[in-house]
Amino acid sequence: MRHTHLRDLEVSRIGLGAMGMSQAYTGAGTDEAESIRTVHRALELGVNFIDTAEIYGPYTNEELLGRALKGHRDEVVLATKFGMVSHGGDGPGNLDSSPANIRTAVEGSLARLDTDHIDLYYQHRVDPNVPIEETAGAVGELIAEGKVRAFGLSEAGPDTIRRANAVTPVSAVQSEYSLFTRDPEARVLPALRELGIGFVPFSPLGRGFLTGTIRSTDGFAEDDFRRDNPRFIGDNFKHNLALADEVQAVAAEVGATSAQVAIAWLLAQGDDIAPIPGTKRVSRVEENAAADTVRLTPAHLERLTNLPPAAGTTHTEAQMKMLER
Ligand SMILES: NC(=O)c1ccc[n+]([C@@H]2O[C@H](COP(=O)([O-])OP(=O)(O)OC[C@H]3O[C@@H](n4cnc5c(N)ncnc54)[C@H](OP(=O)(O)O)[C@@H]3O)[C@@H](O)[C@H]2O)c1
Repeated sequence: MRHTHLRDLEVSRIGLGAMGMSQAYTGAGTDEAESIRTVHRALELGVNFIDTAEIYGPYTNEELLGRALKGHRDEVVLATKFGMVSHGGDGPGNLDSSPANIRTAVEGSLARLDTDHIDLYYQHRVDPNVPIEETAGAVGELIAEGKVRAFGLSEAGPDTIRRANAVTPVSAVQSEYSLFTRDPEARVLPALRELGIGFVPFSPLGRGFLTGTIRSTDGFAEDDFRRDNPRFIGDNFKHNLALADEVQAVAAEVGATSAQVAIAWLLAQGDDIAPIPGTKRVSRVEENAAADTVRLTPAHLERLTNLPPAAGTTHTEAQMKMLER
């Protein structure tokens, strides 16, 4: 497994997103033993960059990783996120990046992850009610105290990134980026490159769509996040299925799987990019990690880059309001 740097933080080029082990997608939370085996297999394969958040569960995903990483903490670059749980009373799902809330959040995350430090601590969504300078200052204090090693932002736009970075150096921005979601290319990636900040694409497999294994949403559980997601509904779904078929056609030519092609395309977009495909299964972490060895020809890269845009927004209307792009 190759490595890269997100500013000073060295990580495997392919990470592991842990969210789906506890929430969002069908089957989440049903097989803790397999989830833990998946984390251990990732480490064996050299995938050392693991992603969670206090809101995942809420809390149970961090607790799961705390158990999974017992005896392995030093092998991992562990990333978690604050700011989507307001500990002052409103609870999960409410933005709060005030310094007081961050202080409470970090102690909870450290306890659940069973560690004395977080390697990469992201603000999960920009909080319109708290100047980003205050948030950045609070994380800077945690870095000075040794509780956090590096500061990150998620779905933040260039202006917020610049303002935050002026107070506390930002090591990584994590936003949705994949063959289906190209938004960061226009404004965010150029700003990150100018500032020397790394980029972590989340949902690099288009929430599973790009793997070609989703042909219908009938089997999705009632609480599957994708049931309300515009990309997975009606005519959008049909349009996007045709794009997934194009990825599958390239995969067949390359002798790889669709998931591997989707990840390899991201890796080819720059050395400063470390995607975090999510899975709760050993077989898939093996498949996804092997994308590190898939090399796409210039012709294949061009064909993928020129795919038509996916139909439907990446989130529901309400969720889109929380994104800066
Ligand atoms: N910052 C944010 O706001 C934000 C938002 C969303 C996600 N994230 C982070 O990004 C990580 C990854 O994103 P994601 O999980 O949303 O989406 P993703 O990585 O694009 O896709 C995950 C889905 O694809 C399936 N899958 C994984 N590998 C596969 C393969 N090789 N073949 C077929 N299916 C496969 C998984 O199912 P199985 O688990 O059953 O394999 C899961 O349903 C998350 O875990 C989370 O840590 C961050």
